[in-house]
Amino acid sequence: MKLVSHPATRPLSGTVTIPGDKSIGHRALLFSLLSETPVRVLGLGDGADNGRSAKAVTQLGARVARDGKALVIHGTGLRGMRAPEGAIDCGNSGTTIRLLCGLLAGQRFATGLVGDESLSSRPMARVIDPLRAMGATITGVPRGMDLVPPLTVGPAIGPLAPLAIALEMASAQVKTAILLAGLYAEGATCVTEPGPSRDHTERMLAYLGAPLTVAGRTTTITTTGWNGRLAGDGFSVPSDPSSSAFLVAAALLAGAGEVRLPNICVNPTRTGFLDAIAAMGGVVTLEDRDETGPEPIATLVVRGAPQELRATTIAGDLAVRSIDELPVLAVIAARARGTTIVRDAGELRVKESDRIATTCAMLRGFGIACEASPDGFTVEGRPDRPLDPAHVHAGGDHRIAMAAAVGGLVATGPTHIDDADNVATSYPGFAAALTGLGASVTSST
Ligand code: S3P
Repeated sequence: MKLVSHPATRPLSGTVTIPGDKSIGHRALLFSLLSETPVRVLGLGDGADNGRSAKAVTQLGARVARDGKALVIHGTGLRGMRAPEGAIDCGNSGTTIRLLCGLLAGQRFATGLVGDESLSSRPMARVIDPLRAMGATITGVPRGMDLVPPLTVGPAIGPLAPLAIALEMASAQVKTAILLAGLYAEGATCVTEPGPSRDHTERMLAYLGAPLTVAGRTTTITTTGWNGRLAGDGFSVPSDPSSSAFLVAAALLAGAGEVRLPNICVNPTRTGFLDAIAAMGGVVTLEDRDETGPEPIATLVVRGAPQELRATTIAGDLAVRSIDELPVLAVIAARARGTTIVRDAGELRVKESDRIATTCAMLRGFGIACEASPDGFTVEGRPDRPLDPAHVHAGGDHRIAMAAAVGGLVATGPTHIDDADNVATSYPGFAAALTGLGASVTSST
């Protein structure tokens, strides 16, 4: 599928309901499998990645039923899963495969985990090594110093051994995989991170009654004396801040009468994008803030003429807190005055594409000077002249395709984006949403 993004001819305006957060959606599905009571999941996004997790839980023995707008997951409890028929296909979804590694490490059966071409080249040793240290049997395909899918997880011959580990890099996926395996270990499993990664797992497992504690940067699961029972009534999935970032960026760059994005998850582990924009002088207002639920939510509002922006530096914890938004932040940086520096983001190299390479190639397509480094890139902003119309190869990466579509709104002619099918992994309605705001983004096969 190809996208064509046309220069915006008027300010964007309107209200868009962004689909449910992908990270929370995966967890709602996978954790509900472990519940002994049926769990109602409201607000799940319609992206293909969450669909992979939904299919996986049915293959492992859950019954998934639709009830109006909710999905009701009739889980198996911790010990009732069954061996799936055939391998579980995780598609493009890194979160599905990595979380399943943890969930399946303690099962008495073996499960094959496969993925598409992109997923089959993504590093898995980061989850496999600690799980093996807990006694799990996991095999993968050697690639250099790492292991890549297809993977086989299990069978476990007895309970797993608890683990205390300090991660070299903050990673919510790795942390979650280890904590899930910790539910099947005897004793205390502790994960310490060097900085803050998203904490949805902690919030959601605690809600289900897992024996989980958080102290500083260390999260611990202690099974000693625990009855092994997880249960809950439901999860409400707020709208995805990572998907909202594209529409926020579009409104900042193209100008907005008023663009409103309600119900966005504003968990502080996810708001690096908003913090980076604020540092660039961009104004995004948070209205209707609601802290009463398990995740804080707010309506994001952008108003007014295209905003004057200045370059910034994104590094350290801020890079972790905006990791999925860095491609679209790079497009914003292309319109900001000065040189934006992104560093401490080496993780970008192993996302759905090598996002340092694909982001730089996209920006160069727009006529913007961009230098890659091992752990980031620099962008020479060009605020005084629109972008050049680009021909972007998204490389099958949803976030590159959507970032390029945003850039196309402030270019001097149509921007063509090839290999954009995977927009459907996180935000199938993206082009329609932008068009609904008054932009023109069309698709063709
Ligand atoms: C995710 C964690 C992040 C993020 C990814 C989703 C998750 O990766 O980039 O898109 O849902 O746990 P890390 O595991 O590197 O934090």
